[in-house]
Amino acid sequence: MSNRHWRKSQSDDFFLKNSKQKGYRSRSVYKLSEIDRKFKIFKNVTNLIDIGSCPGGWSEYAIKKIPSGKLLAVDINEMEPIDGVMFIRGDIEEQTIQDKLFNEINNEKFDLIISDMSPNKTGNKVSDQYKFYNIADSILEFSQNGLMSKGMMVMKVFIGLGFEEFKSDLKEGFEIVNYFKPKSSRKESRETYVIAKNIRYN
Ligand SMILES: C[S@@+](CC[C@H](N)C(=O)[O-])C[C@H]1O[C@@H](n2cnc3c(N)ncnc32)[C@H](O)[C@@H]1O
Repeated sequence: MSNRHWRKSQSDDFFLKNSKQKGYRSRSVYKLSEIDRKFKIFKNVTNLIDIGSCPGGWSEYAIKKIPSGKLLAVDINEMEPIDGVMFIRGDIEEQTIQDKLFNEINNEKFDLIISDMSPNKTGNKVSDQYKFYNIADSILEFSQNGLMSKGMMVMKVFIGLGFEEFKSDLKEGFEIVNYFKPKSSRKESRETYVIAKNIRYN
């Protein structure tokens, strides 16, 4: 094994082993905690939605950060319950699901949207990217309708086909857009995270 590969698998093991030891539901929780440390995303948050929440690592982390707030989680797969988290099973692209989510917060708006959404990979890079950005477009549209004017959206995106176009849509939708690749995100993965703030009203 080359040094590079050895180091990679060691660090992969570190986050995986650690998340298992600590009883976290996913390794992804480290990415959210790095984002949180850098961008203080839970400050003054009352209504929060976690999109693509299964198995629940992000929701478990987030509910501790907003003990008196409301956390909705949505996923196409079933999620084991988490104390204090209201789970809705469904596809975020569907209007009926979006309406349900708004109903849950009495048609108010969200302060924060977090999305670690990723569809199952088919092995075909082009159609995977295409599918991802179709859903990502729905989430962006949802954020424009559903976020407070000073609200924030944190979202996983994949560099590649569709990324540049999505970047310019984000720039149109938000006043501040940052990109951040957490250390716990595998180097070979094309994922990175968007931290977008303040809806731009045109
Ligand atoms: C990487 S996992 C999220 C891991 C999660 N953040 C955690 O810490 O446990 C991505 C999730 O996105 C969900 N997903 C994919 N497409 C979706 C859609 N259209 N609507 C809702 N959830 C979706 C998948 O079912 C999957 O559970």
